[in-house]
Amino acid sequence: MSETAPVPDLAPSPQLAADANGQPELFEEATADLEGFWARQARERLTWDTDFEQVLDWSEAPFAKWFVGGRLNVAHNCVDRHVEAGNGERVAIHFEGERGDTRTLTYADLQREVAKAANALTELGVQTGDRVAIYLPMIPEAIVTMLACARLGAPHSVVFGGFSADALKSRILDAQARVVVTADGQFRKGTSLPLKKAVDEAIDHMGADSPVDHVLVVRRTEGEVAWDDARDQWWHELVDRQPDTHEAQAHDSEHPLFILYTSGTTGKPKGILHTSGGYLTQVAYTNAIVHDLRPETDVYWCTADIGWVTGHSYLVYGPLANGATQVVYEGTPDSPHQGRWWEIVEKYKVSILYTAPTAVRACMKWGADIPARYDLSSIRILGSVGEPINPEAWRWYREHIGGGSAPIVDTWWQTETGAIMISPLPGVTTLEPGSAQRPVPGISAEILDDEGKPFTEPEKVGYLVLTKPWPSMLRGIWGDPDRYRETYWSRFGPEYYFAGDGAKYDADGNIWLLGRVDDVMNVSGHRLSTAEIESALVSHPAVAEAAVVGASDEMTGQAVCAFVILRGAAVPADGDTDAVVQELRAHVGKEIGPIAKPRSIMVVTELPKTRSGKIMRRLLRDLAEGREVGDATTLADSSVMQTIQQGMTG
Ligand code: WT7
Repeated sequence: MSETAPVPDLAPSPQLAADANGQPELFEEATADLEGFWARQARERLTWDTDFEQVLDWSEAPFAKWFVGGRLNVAHNCVDRHVEAGNGERVAIHFEGERGDTRTLTYADLQREVAKAANALTELGVQTGDRVAIYLPMIPEAIVTMLACARLGAPHSVVFGGFSADALKSRILDAQARVVVTADGQFRKGTSLPLKKAVDEAIDHMGADSPVDHVLVVRRTEGEVAWDDARDQWWHELVDRQPDTHEAQAHDSEHPLFILYTSGTTGKPKGILHTSGGYLTQVAYTNAIVHDLRPETDVYWCTADIGWVTGHSYLVYGPLANGATQVVYEGTPDSPHQGRWWEIVEKYKVSILYTAPTAVRACMKWGADIPARYDLSSIRILGSVGEPINPEAWRWYREHIGGGSAPIVDTWWQTETGAIMISPLPGVTTLEPGSAQRPVPGISAEILDDEGKPFTEPEKVGYLVLTKPWPSMLRGIWGDPDRYRETYWSRFGPEYYFAGDGAKYDADGNIWLLGRVDDVMNVSGHRLSTAEIESALVSHPAVAEAAVVGASDEMTGQAVCAFVILRGAAVPADGDTDAVVQELRAHVGKEIGPIAKPRSIMVVTELPKTRSGKIMRRLLRDLAEGREVGDATTLADSSVMQTIQQGMTG
């Protein structure tokens, strides 16, 4: 516990401390009897057709079984039971299209839509265990399809709508999906882009290897599509004519719910497998205690795309299991103008907002005067996910979006963990900007040194591991049990799940996540985190965004190379950036220490990012080390690397 008095502003308000869903007793309960704790969460938060006999079977570690013998239907838990409880008229989804078209779906509407979609998939021959690929924009049909799959026990594999035909092809093949659900096109930044075209290409390229029997197509943009009569069906023809009731069967607690592909250290993406009872328990639990969701009164908005795990866990399964009312937005934050998100918050009186630091920094760059034009007073809880949120962005987020007082929950987790693992609890934790702080009740983490020994000394950098199985943990990599063991359970032995992240404690025992370990640099024997130096750079008023990589260096092992985007007002009129670069080097020296001073700082106008907003440091490392730039096909905008290179040499 901290010796220093808590800063009042960062402590929970007495009101929230009293009312919050997550209370300090949870920690005690979980410590006293971990399995009993999770059993209670599973029984109180979910409706089981058959109760489970055993909480955890870890006898075939690292392949866990949770809530053994239990049977439930995930879609029934997310939809039907709310209707049965008399909440059918509660809004489940306020859908906001990019062009301003809207749809409202109550839980009763959602129940009918899911039933029709389940009947349609059945007509297409989908049976329990069959895989369905979903390649859709952020429209209600995407959520409906996921729930229809869950209802049938047909694991879905959602492929982000920004991925290419090639990426789609490898994912369809790996999962052997029999059906693909897609749309004619999607709206993005004011234009419409084709989507089904990529499905056609993917299937063409597979030739005789294609496992796909049917493609179900939602009409969204009314763009032209090529059509294969034997294979393709319109959603509005097939789904709309189905009966709007469907009898749900219960599935085993360990029945596969979905596969979601995520990139690893090799070129081949990993199909992360999640199952039913444990996953749904932990996403519902964390959505309740971390986001402090109160389904009767809150309007919740998670800005993630369903193509990512955040969309699965905190847009679909967690909030719907809890009976939330939520906003689903199709577009980007700056379409058609940079105030679009805040306009939506005002319109629906959003009270809980969950987004990513990269989006917060983009909004920072656009200026605080934009959110200031809207009434954001409904916001009471803010969340952050995906990367460390630098204290600068944290403060901006709280000040300009959270009215200076909303708690920010900085949630650490991964596609693999399925649900939030490390995060403040808004009614309990005194916040520490930039740190995800502590494991949530029920979760155990430690930091290990190079020898694999746990330590607690502050400021020493080590490796984050999880030390006990948790309900929403991945159950493996689809079709590759060896890679599962090797990637996560071998580095420090079979009792530690190795998350791949560097971490340290501060003097108060808060955990600071320092980025992926391949992003931790070693400069003259000192370990430095890219995230820490980026945060130092961004704390300078001239800097809008920064990316740091470790480039190999003959003298020091690795050297710090930074790429920065300057704020508009800081861009020198004559294009000569020498002075600002010198100032930034000195600033980092001052913030962290001379060892952290970047060897080089390149001023750029763009950074290479994946479609999920992660900076592709590998590409920047290529530039910093003077190599030809490697494979850039997963960039959101493939021209960015050219722009950067031209800017650097020109
Ligand atoms: C990696 C997982 C979690 C859903 C979205 C990303 C980084 C995630 C935080 C955070 C610091 C974070 C880690 C992690 N990360 N959240 N709050 N603070 N780092 O899922 O694509 O599986 O990425 O994202 O490096 O390992 P993902």
